Amino acid sequence: MKGAAAAAALALAIALPAACTLPQEESAFEQTGELIALSGGDAGAQGACVICHGLAGEGDGELVPRLAGLDPGYAVRQLEFFSGGQRRHPQMVWIADRLSWDARQKVASYYAALPVPALQPAWPPDEAACAPATARLYHLGDRSRGLAACATCHGLQGEGVGRGNPPLADQPAAYLAQQLNAWRNGQRYGDARGVMTHVSRLLSDAEVTALAGYSSVLRGASAYPAPPAACL
Ligand code: HEC
Ligand code: HEC
Repeated sequence: MKGAAAAAALALAIALPAACTLPQEESAFEQTGELIALSGGDAGAQGACVICHGLAGEGDGELVPRLAGLDPGYAVRQLEFFSGGQRRHPQMVWIADRLSWDARQKVASYYAALPVPALQPAWPPDEAACAPATARLYHLGDRSRGLAACATCHGLQGEGVGRGNPPLADQPAAYLAQQLNAWRNGQRYGDARGVMTHVSRLLSDAEVTALAGYSSVLRGASAYPAPPAACL
């Protein structure tokens, strides 16, 4: 029985793609997403993702987002955006510039496969975040100003929808608010049809903070939510 289990494990190990780290003597560590996360790859030690994004890809509960469970296509596109000027964070720009296409794919796949860590308690939602008006805005939008419901694209539980609409649940509230403000003032752009630029500019300052707090504590953090038709 033991022999059979070992043989099965071996067969599984052989079938696994190179990006999955296996305890091998001579595996080319530079070619794994995990090594890039730990070492920074060609960006060097100061680009090691774990320094800022945490060992489990959980983020820092403030301005550094979680990477664990993010769709790899979404993450790779964000790295392209940092390189291409559609996102401006100086350190992420510097790091993304030093990662090859191949390295971006690998590190993104590595994080996509990590389980979503439990919600960071650093940001208990405040009164405005929990107000019924905030929930209404998130789930229903506001027709009077042409504001689509966040839930249409980010999911009823903030789990994200399909591959292009990222999760908001379990992302730090401060990070989410910062991104909404970046779209409002033109520092982040490049998403399809400028949806987030449009949406963010329909919100007041207070609504940005409240919606960031509300969506951060939604319960839907998971890697690959099923896409409702409305967002495809
Ligand atoms: C010095 C700290 C730091 C390091 C090191 C770092 N990051 Fe980041 N990362 C950030 C911050 C801060 C943001 C948010 C940037 C912004 O406000 O737009 C971010 C954002 C991101 C995003 C966008 C996530 C989203 O939800 O849109 C991705 C993807 C990402 N980082 C990947 C990586 C990878 C891969 C590495 C390692 C190769 C890495 N980061 C290393 C600080 C860091
Ligand atoms: C029509 C679809 C759509 C609607 C409606 C929408 N979003 Fe988005 N949102 C997106 C897409 C697509 C992205 C990713 C953009 C990119 O690739 O850069 C995004 C990204 C975000 C992000 C950044 C996440 C990250 O990890 O960096 C935040 C915050 C956000 N949306 C908040 C909201 C809020 C709050 C609402 C409602 C007021 C809303 N969105 C409504 C499609 C939508």
